[in-house]
Amino acid sequence: MAALMNKRDFLRTSTAAGLGLLLGDRVWAKFTDVPADQLAGHEAFWATIRAKYRLKPDYINLESGYYSMQATPVLEAFVEKVREVNLQASYYLRTTQVPDKAAARDTLAALAGCSPAELCITRNTTESIATVVNGYDWKPGDEAVQAEQDYGHMLAHFRLVARRYGMVNRLVSVPPDPRTDDDVVSVYAKAITPRTRLLMVSHVINITGHILPVRKIADMAHARGVDVLVDGAHAFAHVDYRIPDTGADYYAASLHKWLGCPLGTGILYVRKDKIPGLWPIYGDWRMTDDADIMKLNHTGTHPVHTDLTIEHAIAFHNAIGAQRKEARLRYLQTYWTSKVRGLPKVILNTPSDPARACAIANVGITGVAPDDLAKTLLDKYKIWTNAIDSPAIGVQGVRITPHVFIQSTDLDVLVRAISEIARA
Ligand SMILES: Cc1ncc(COP(=O)(O)O)c(C=O)c1O
Repeated sequence: MAALMNKRDFLRTSTAAGLGLLLGDRVWAKFTDVPADQLAGHEAFWATIRAKYRLKPDYINLESGYYSMQATPVLEAFVEKVREVNLQASYYLRTTQVPDKAAARDTLAALAGCSPAELCITRNTTESIATVVNGYDWKPGDEAVQAEQDYGHMLAHFRLVARRYGMVNRLVSVPPDPRTDDDVVSVYAKAITPRTRLLMVSHVINITGHILPVRKIADMAHARGVDVLVDGAHAFAHVDYRIPDTGADYYAASLHKWLGCPLGTGILYVRKDKIPGLWPIYGDWRMTDDADIMKLNHTGTHPVHTDLTIEHAIAFHNAIGAQRKEARLRYLQTYWTSKVRGLPKVILNTPSDPARACAIANVGITGVAPDDLAKTLLDKYKIWTNAIDSPAIGVQGVRITPHVFIQSTDLDVLVRAISEIARA
């Protein structure tokens, strides 16, 4: 039990002392009064955060959008949990597994700004969204609204229930560089009919980094009696917000993206009054209370060491500070996009308004296929990215997702690479 107690010691000390513990009090004293927006460009400060990660020297990792590596203190805690759970085996599962997971959920709920009774820990956004979409008692002719820019597999959940129950999906197309929030909200509003029951919206579009005005979309949908499911896979612990402020009835996110948790961690938020209306996917013979969100959370025996590590990732995230992290991530994106936007043949597939994007941006070059661009970036410039080739929605380029361990000098390499490839 000692190692499991250590987890709590680590948490207590790191949460209380914040950055002082991460950086050492002497270093922290230099930065303590610097506002987040000024600290965003302070490379010496962020170098101390970078030092908390083990990075491969072979390439510059600009693909944290898929999976963001754990910081070393989080990884060490995770490995310790793997060893400890293995050592205690079924003793652990039959004694403190459930209260430990509940404690992790409480910490997550504090970060999300919601009640623990409205949150459960899942494996990922996929599971969370599938739980909601499959939890509806769809009738033939019922309608749901999504966008072409949503993540393909999440749209597939809706196609599946359309095939199975005869419900109907209506796809909108989000304007790529809106001038106002209403440019986006009105697109969703036009797709709603008297048969619409559910609207899914991405908080951050994964291929472009576009941050959508989810609160305004939710208010508009609610005024028409439509429920709102927010796909927050890319928003949680990336931009700073509280889930209830989004207006979502249901909110799904992955913790292995921007929070830096081990692979296979996610959340599902269901607003309290919406819990009784959802059918669970898996049965649970103990569950008699239809208003208990845990009815949605029975998945059988699973890798509990991931649950145990969530609190460590949150401690690391909180130690940096959500505002500081968002300001740094937006700084990194605008640092490189401002240097290449407007260059001949360079196409930015991300909104120009800095408030409508944060870390993620997408860049293409006229005449260069996305796969070739990604390959040249890796082979010639040692930059790891992800090619996005979606001509149907007008996005052809590479997605660039820097995390807090990326420095402006890494992005100078990217800027040089894009400039040279566009000139060639
Ligand atoms: C917008 C969006 N939704 C859902 C997912 C699925 O996330 P996961 O694979 O963690 O379930 C992703 C993954 O990148 C995503 O970008």
